[in-house]
Amino acid sequence: MSATSGEVVLGVGAGIAAYKSADLLRRLQDRGYAVTVVPTPSSLNFVGAATWQALSGRPVASTIWENTEKVSHISIAQQADYFLIAPATADLIARIAAGRADDLLTNLVLASNAAMLVVPAMHPQMWSNPATVANVATLRSRGYIVMEPEYGRLTGDDFGQGRFPEIAKIVSQFDAMTGNVADFTGKRVLISGGGTREAIDPVRFIGNRSSGKQALALVRAAAKRGAQVHLVAANMDTSQLGAISTTHVESAAQMRAVLAEEFASCDLLIMCAAVADARPVTTRIEKIKKRLLTSIELEPNPDLLAELGARKEHQILVGFAAETSDLIDSARGKLVAKGLDIIYVNDVSNGAIFGKDTTSGIILTRTGAEIALKEVSKDALANVLLDYAIRQLG
Ligand code: CTP
Repeated sequence: MSATSGEVVLGVGAGIAAYKSADLLRRLQDRGYAVTVVPTPSSLNFVGAATWQALSGRPVASTIWENTEKVSHISIAQQADYFLIAPATADLIARIAAGRADDLLTNLVLASNAAMLVVPAMHPQMWSNPATVANVATLRSRGYIVMEPEYGRLTGDDFGQGRFPEIAKIVSQFDAMTGNVADFTGKRVLISGGGTREAIDPVRFIGNRSSGKQALALVRAAAKRGAQVHLVAANMDTSQLGAISTTHVESAAQMRAVLAEEFASCDLLIMCAAVADARPVTTRIEKIKKRLLTSIELEPNPDLLAELGARKEHQILVGFAAETSDLIDSARGKLVAKGLDIIYVNDVSNGAIFGKDTTSGIILTRTGAEIALKEVSKDALANVLLDYAIRQLG
């Protein structure tokens, strides 16, 4: 693995398991991650800053009052691709859930949109306390991945759920979150993205506000996880994608033709494109003079996803929905009607989402799972959708 797997903030809370995170740091470095360790001030009672500095080869601060000229609480946050908070104490989880910023680590969490993996370790009674249960639920609702502590003997004589998980388990959970795994090797993934344009005449079209950013995130994530990806791109910028096999299309009819051809050989279809629901009945060859442009007669486009859903054999189908109200009911209806396995419903009230790097919505699966995500990055959503898809692909 190259030394470019990503920039990680390793947040260390004040649990006795802090010393185990020294090994975790080494394992992350082995896997090509560059790591900045940010211990909470009280965790320095367990493992001192010198240890973290020596192991990471980077300066270590625990409050915002160190290296103030570097404005570290913003610069480290901006540079981080991922956060791994291990061990996370009940207090640290509570502070993050409340949006506190009373040390460097909580400042960074608040100032970052990076994907977050939280590894709790605490006494079983603290873990099962309703306050901690509610705080963990809050973090999960924001898209954080919170691991379950393990059962077993704790520091004293007590026994129960609260132990810090094995390092290998944490690393594999972290790899799953970052997409640094090859679980899609040998799988063919067909992704549509962007928004179709339905020509009115040579200069005008009916279009929509889809930027294609979510499709780009899906393509990058699936390719990184080893998939053979084919992108059907409708009017989106693919210049940053490199060597991904791509077919550019303009209209729904063109997208339909490409998908019809590619569908049979794919294992997973992710229909991320915003397909125009209707098109002009006729497309004029010559530009229409403005005095004649008073109305446009439309006819419906076929529902491409529903057509493919009706045709599917071994394929797993992921659809998107954009809704402004009744999110869950509408999306469940589409999941069933279009023969989907997974649907992600975006809340697009007030034009939110379009062109942004973050998204809020709900993932619904055929098997009944319902996962709410709030202001997560489109990259993080891509990996979560792929996690659900690979489980169904088997
Ligand atoms: N879709 C499609 N073909 C269409 C319209 C939509 O394949 N003609 C796909 C989209 O790519 C998306 C899903 O269907 O994955 C849901 O799109 P959405 O616009 O939310 O739903 P519609 O079925 O168009 O329903 P409505 O606009 O009535 O809410």
